[in-house]
Amino acid sequence: MLQHSRTGSGQKELTDINLMADEYIRLAYHGMRAKDKSFNVDFKTDLDPDLPKIMVMPQEIGRVLLNLINNAFQALTAPTPLPPIGGKKDSPTVIVTTKRYSPPLGGKGVEVRITDNGPGIPDSIKDKIFQPFFTTKPTGQGTGLGLSLSYDIIKAHGGELKVETKEGEGTAFTILLPIT
Ligand SMILES: Nc1ncnc2c1ncn2[C@@H]1O[C@H](COP(=O)(O)OP(=O)(O)OP(=O)(O)O)[C@@H](O)[C@H]1O
Ligand SMILES: [Mg+2]
Repeated sequence: MLQHSRTGSGQKELTDINLMADEYIRLAYHGMRAKDKSFNVDFKTDLDPDLPKIMVMPQEIGRVLLNLINNAFQALTAPTPLPPIGGKKDSPTVIVTTKRYSPPLGGKGVEVRITDNGPGIPDSIKDKIFQPFFTTKPTGQGTGLGLSLSYDIIKAHGGELKVETKEGEGTAFTILLPIT
C-alpha cells in the first residue's frame, strides 16, 4: 500500500473513505509502537456505515490522513509544556470519525475528523501551521511540510481542511470533501 502511495498514478477512483481511515489509523499506530516501546496512546474510530464512496485520488488522500493522524499521535507523545487544566485529563486518545455532511450552499459531502486530546496549538502559531516548513518538532523529526501539503491536496479536490484547537484540551482537524 505504501509503495502504491509513492507511485500513485494521480487518477481519481471511487474510494471507500471508511476503509482508508481504518487502515491508516492502524498503520500510524503500529508505526508509532514500532519506533517507541513506551508509546501509550489509544485510538478509536467512529465511522458512518452509510458513508457514500467518493471520487478522489486515494494515494493523495492517504497522505493527508497519515499526516493528520501522525500529527495527532505525536502531539500526544511529546512532553507537554502545560499541566492539565482542571486536574485530571482523559487518557491520551486519537479519534477518527466520518460522516456525511451537507455543504451550506447545497450538494453533498463527506466529513473526516481527526481529534486528539493533546496540548492544543497555541494562538501564537495557529496562523502558521499550514505554511510550508513550519514545524515545532526537533530538527530531523519534522519537515513542516505535512499540513501545507495536506491543505493543497484537499483544495485540489475542491474540499476544505479546517482546524479547531484549545490550548490544554486538544485539537481537531476536519476534512470536508464534496461528493463528485
Ligand atoms: N494535532 C496537533 N496538535 C498540536 N500541534 C499540532 C498538531 N498538528 C500539527 N501541529 C503543529 O503544526 C506544526 C506543523 O505540522 P506539519 O504536519 O505541517 O509539520 P510537522 O508534523 O512538524 O512535520 P512533518 O509533517 O514533516 O513530520 C507541527 O510542528 C505542530 O507544531
Ligand atoms: Mg506532520
